[in-house]
Amino acid sequence: MLHLFKWPYGQRQEVEDLSFLETDVHSHLVPGVDDGADRVEESLELVRSLVQLGFKSLITTPHVRADYYPNSRDAILDSFERLLRAVEKARLGVELFCAAEYYVDAHFEKLLDKEPLLTFPGDYVLLELSSITPPLNLYEILFRIQSKGYRPIIAHPERYVYLLEAFEEVHRLKDNGCLLQLNLLSPSGYYGKQIRKGALRLLKAGMIDLLGTDLHHMRHLDALDKMLRSPLQSRWLRKQVFLNKELTQASDRR
Ligand SMILES: [Fe+2]
Repeated sequence: MLHLFKWPYGQRQEVEDLSFLETDVHSHLVPGVDDGADRVEESLELVRSLVQLGFKSLITTPHVRADYYPNSRDAILDSFERLLRAVEKARLGVELFCAAEYYVDAHFEKLLDKEPLLTFPGDYVLLELSSITPPLNLYEILFRIQSKGYRPIIAHPERYVYLLEAFEEVHRLKDNGCLLQLNLLSPSGYYGKQIRKGALRLLKAGMIDLLGTDLHHMRHLDALDKMLRSPLQSRWLRKQVFLNKELTQASDRR
């Protein structure tokens, strides 16, 4: 069981890189399966840069969604194996785990019944929701996910305007057993003002459990670097403790 505690607001904890998180829980590093890295060389460059940012473990999460990325579990794992071999050969000293970012649609519901999902250590499943409307049967799906022994994590809730407009739904998600994962770049305004505002509101309300880079390409890394170099943009990182490292500390699963 994970335990969350938070630093009192105002107490300073210096952050120069992202090593305090130890584990990144959201990225698109598996070559050639989604809109992240295309070739294994690109993947390797992204992994190397994440290591330079201070990460010791990376849980990478390729998209799985029927319309754009109908990736099968086997296709993802085959491609992940190529990345793993390249990372081992390059001796980067980082631990890699392969999960997925499942878009909640009818295809996901079929997968849930059909095959084991690609999970984080500890059977956590990363879920992406529509950015326009919530799935009508979201709570029924969350119940089914948990009945099968998985633990849901909602990816970047700051992007779902309908959630932020009805903030009690954020509490409802947490009351229904979900962890919430914020994108590190959201509070900087990288994805726009509205998402920035949502991110800051979620942080201030103490709703965020995990941080992820959601890294797709080098432009994201440049933006992360820029954020870390700006005390104004990165000060929120110093005000709370997140659960990232606990996800990989208790397990040696891949
Ligand atoms: Fe993502």
